[in-house]
Amino acid sequence: MEYDIKDLSLKNIGREKIEWVKDFMPVLSSIEKKYIDKQPLKGIRVSMALHLEAKTAYLAIVMKNLGAEVRVSGSNPLSTQDQICAALVDMGISVFAYRGVDNETYNRHLVQALSHKPHIIIDDGADLAHALHKKHPELRENVYGGCEETTTGVIRLKAMDRQKILKYPMFAINDADCKHLFDNRFGTGQSSLEGVMRSTNLSLFGKKVVVAGFGWCGKGIAEKAKGFGANVIVTEVDAVKALEAAMEGYEVMPMKQAAKIGDIFITSTGNIDIITKEHFVLMKNNAILCNAGHFDCEISMKQLNKIAVKKEDRRNGVTGYHLKNGNVINVLGEGRLVNLACSDGHAAEIMDMSFALQLLTALYVLDNKGKLENRLYNVPVEIDRAVAEAKLESMGICIDVLSAEQKKYLESWE
Ligand code: NAD
Ligand code: ADE
Repeated sequence: MEYDIKDLSLKNIGREKIEWVKDFMPVLSSIEKKYIDKQPLKGIRVSMALHLEAKTAYLAIVMKNLGAEVRVSGSNPLSTQDQICAALVDMGISVFAYRGVDNETYNRHLVQALSHKPHIIIDDGADLAHALHKKHPELRENVYGGCEETTTGVIRLKAMDRQKILKYPMFAINDADCKHLFDNRFGTGQSSLEGVMRSTNLSLFGKKVVVAGFGWCGKGIAEKAKGFGANVIVTEVDAVKALEAAMEGYEVMPMKQAAKIGDIFITSTGNIDIITKEHFVLMKNNAILCNAGHFDCEISMKQLNKIAVKKEDRRNGVTGYHLKNGNVINVLGEGRLVNLACSDGHAAEIMDMSFALQLLTALYVLDNKGKLENRLYNVPVEIDRAVAEAKLESMGICIDVLSAEQKKYLESWE
């Protein structure tokens, strides 16, 4: 078995973490139970590029248990947990990832995860899609299709779809209701603040927290920060989202204005150059900056490195940049996804739904192989509903059912 990880001796800690989350991912467990005898993934090669932490490991294990040959790489240099990689290798899954890889190694790992010529792609950020379309077309000849986890990956795939260059069908997991309504909003809301609090050991109450982007993630971050007693400021470029934020009771202003008064800044736009040198120089001493968006392009680290006169590690995950004006700007997790670089990612109960969607959609791709076009598809509504229903059941929640009369009433115009 091939692999490239940091240290196999970390496997027991990794195993414990995986065992723990399993107990809180009942939907994924119920799918495994339903299909285990049928072995629907027997003979199927799966390549995954995901944030390699315990919940992801459980998805990989379930896929293996359903018969798949799984190869995994990371989807961000700082979101990989070495203990988890060790546990997966110990369980017979090929892993190509370690925390802190450089760009060259990161890209090599993606190719290694693809080198068994997969049938199914599980992507988070569309880096596998990029590798298969740009540099390694020879590795995509057996691909039946795949799934994309996040907003940024879906944006990239939509661009490929528009240009009609997609070479296999992909499904936008992010756009399913059971993904963005819960994962992006509640998941990122909680886990990003966990990342801030764990790495700084500071409080949020009474602080001015600036949230850049009031999309699904931004809404969640703002809501949870408000719950912790922060005074939340939102920056936006979309008039409707800005209005929504204002009516939620947040202050809304341009970043140039927010830069002067914020204590903590969290970007979640999926866009580039949200905080740049024009903002760094306006900030208060000891301002704390972090990013929850997929790529590390939201805070311009290049510009910060250029204008800083000194850089120092202040705590695990906290880098202080000393500016000419005497102020220190603290950046968490090197400007990479703060919830994964400085914490364990989303709660298990949340990833249960996101990964149930991934697994059920992968099974759908197999059931429909040869019938799909090389396009970007939405997750079938039945899969989205099935995940919601299974989650409600696991939470012991029953809901009302439409009566025949109610159905008829809703369908009539008279
Ligand atoms: P979204 O499209 O719902 O929201 C993005 C918002 O940012 C939009 O409202 C947009 O108008 C706004 N925006 C764009 N440019 C801006 C600018 N210059 N200034 C201020 N606002 C701007 O996207 P989302 O689902 O919230 O995802 C945001 C990012 O977070 C993506 O990169 C996504 O992949 C990532 N994500 C991260 C996690 C995580 O675990 N950290 C989870 C889910 C998604
Ligand atoms: N854990 C695994 N994948 C994740 C993701 N995309 N976001 C947050 N936590 C995760």
